Amino acid sequence: VYEDINLFKRSLGQTSDVVNKQLLELASSKEDEGYALRPEGTASVVRSYLEHSFDKNETISKFFYIGPMFRGERPQKGRLRQFHQIGVEVISPSETMSHRLDAEVLILCMHLLREFKVKEPKLKINSLGSKEDKERISLWLRGEFAKHKKELCEDCQERFERNVFRVLDCKNEKCRKTVNSIVKDLPLSEKSKEYFNGVQKTLTEAGIDFRIDPHLVRGLDYYTHTVFEITAGGELGSQNAIGAGGNYEQLLHDLGGDLRINYRALGFAIGIERILLASQIEKPMPGIDVFLVTFNCDDTRNEFKLLNFLRQNGINADMNYLLASFKSQMSRANRLNARYVLIIGEDEVKNNTVAVKDMKTGTQEAVEIKNIVSNLKGKLAN
Ligand code: HAM
Repeated sequence: VYEDINLFKRSLGQTSDVVNKQLLELASSKEDEGYALRPEGTASVVRSYLEHSFDKNETISKFFYIGPMFRGERPQKGRLRQFHQIGVEVISPSETMSHRLDAEVLILCMHLLREFKVKEPKLKINSLGSKEDKERISLWLRGEFAKHKKELCEDCQERFERNVFRVLDCKNEKCRKTVNSIVKDLPLSEKSKEYFNGVQKTLTEAGIDFRIDPHLVRGLDYYTHTVFEITAGGELGSQNAIGAGGNYEQLLHDLGGDLRINYRALGFAIGIERILLASQIEKPMPGIDVFLVTFNCDDTRNEFKLLNFLRQNGINADMNYLLASFKSQMSRANRLNARYVLIIGEDEVKNNTVAVKDMKTGTQEAVEIKNIVSNLKGKLAN
């Protein structure tokens, strides 16, 4: 959950928002130590992969993780300081430039989203090219944007200096206009173009719908070649990215991997909270099995005994300890979304029974106290 802060500073990019504005640093009593809560999982997987010499022992390694991540962002719907990701990473020490690997990762991602019943997930892909392409494209973009620098927003003037790629996905209207007029396509090398064409062909063959967005660059700096983002509708609003990922071979070398090896590395992460907002899965209303209504509030001995007996038998039950009218106890049962209400009035005490009211149907029946657990368990199982 936390790592040496330098792992994130070295891997996610000094110019990325995640490092610049959102790292949640842990206070340390030692001066030469610094830790941060992890904002994402890829850097940690790579750190662990190298630490455990997977590159020396495995030709290809496939990992997944499900866990909490932390970013010091301004919270809003779908954007939390603690959220959860499901992530997948594939790392290989051989340069298997198979576009099938990109397709495999994307097919898995889209399959998961379908299983989670996410409403209309939309996949956008782009290629940033190889490390060398990126350096060349960066120079080209600087040259082009230099002529229009005044038309860029304040943030982009800074991005122009530090990471010109980020100008491409700026949301500012003026920047959008400038970017649209200059960048129709990223000038990739022939080899990278061929590779990206292979990814597209394999995706089409697999029946995956996608759109190419030449301005998709992603907020983390470690990507090369194919990058992607999936958005969805539902209740997401402006935070509509539910998943993202791409290739990050360079990260292996940045984090101390063997320089003689041409690694292959790619993966994705999807945000669980955003999936829930975009999903059509019916969310179960949390509720309790049974609420006990009491009449004699000065002496709730019998009800209290019954309450504990039910709980010990695995039935989720609650009751009031305060003096309250029948009506207000029933409304409390409703608020707790109780499936059944148990009523022990004078008649019930006399007859050793309990009245069991079904809160869905409104029907009520008398059940012998000695049979109450089996009776309720039978009802709750249906
Ligand atoms: P990311 O785009 O920063 O990529 O995050 C992936 C997903 O995590 C987002 O699409 C979103 O669903 C969710 N997410 C991010 N920040 C928040 C937040 N503050 N609140 C709620 N959900 C959030 C990565 O993290 C990369 N590690 C993905 C990757 C894996 N690339 C290669 N392998």
